[in-house]
Amino acid sequence: MEPGDLDGDRDDNPPETTPAHPLRAALTRRSALLSMGAVAGFAAVDVSGFAYAGGWLRPDVLTPPRFADRFEHVYGRHDGFRRNHAKGLSATGSFVSSGAGAAICKAAVFQPGTVPLVGRFSLGGGLPDQADKPDTIRGLGLLFQPPNGQQWRTAMVNVPVFPDSTPRGFYERMLAFKPLPGTGKPDPQKTAAFLDRHPETVAAMKIIKQSPPSAGFADSTFYGLNAFWFTNSAGATVPVRWSVIPHARAVVVEVAAGIDRW
Ligand code: HEM
Repeated sequence: MEPGDLDGDRDDNPPETTPAHPLRAALTRRSALLSMGAVAGFAAVDVSGFAYAGGWLRPDVLTPPRFADRFEHVYGRHDGFRRNHAKGLSATGSFVSSGAGAAICKAAVFQPGTVPLVGRFSLGGGLPDQADKPDTIRGLGLLFQPPNGQQWRTAMVNVPVFPDSTPRGFYERMLAFKPLPGTGKPDPQKTAAFLDRHPETVAAMKIIKQSPPSAGFADSTFYGLNAFWFTNSAGATVPVRWSVIPHARAVVVEVAAGIDRW
């Protein structure tokens, strides 16, 4: 029986056209109305389910659209550019695998051979025309294209730890470190209040300051930051955190390594 179908009689005598009895006609109309009511009810449940899942009914929940809005609030809207790492340059190249990685990972990219890749070097923050300052976070995105249409994508940055332990921390830090129009610097009271509430960011900043930035992209080390599980062909699994280390010797630049322009 369908929802709203009170009598379950759905066969050869369509009640809408040939009601056998006034009571049946009344029941049929009621049944139709109830049916519509039930459909509307289900639609309402669906919509509110989506609204709930999307966070529209929970203003306190941090959702991807709210995060996107925060980027636009802090950096302005720049159509056609990424909301973070907006300034960047793309490159193509190849990854030459010695095959040594196959001992811990069965992924095709670690078999001996050459894998084509597409990369993008970027500066953190949502300003597509920002100056190339050495203390701005540098990003490297890589798209490996091993055989059989596989893809492996990774994003890395030139600092060894992330300043925040949760997306909420990142979200709040962006506002606390928003540069003021007059000075171009963040409000010291807001940054101090944020750091008081986020000792993990203070700890991360100490680590970041211990590895001052190099002169440019070519001599930067890029860190994957997250750990991933690698499984080899024998089924042994280990956690791995990778980084990309330049051939060039790093020329270190003395700056007060900032986190405000991530
Ligand atoms: C809560 C944490 C994070 C948020 C909210 C965030 C947000 C974003 C956003 C909105 C973009 C632009 C994406 C696009 O328009 O295509 C982006 C790009 C990027 N992010 Fe993140 N990110 C986070 C964590 C990280 C981490 C942990 C890393 C590095 C390990 C990272 C590295 C990058 C890089 C390199 C890009 C540029 C990618 C490219 O050139 O295409 N992000 N991020």
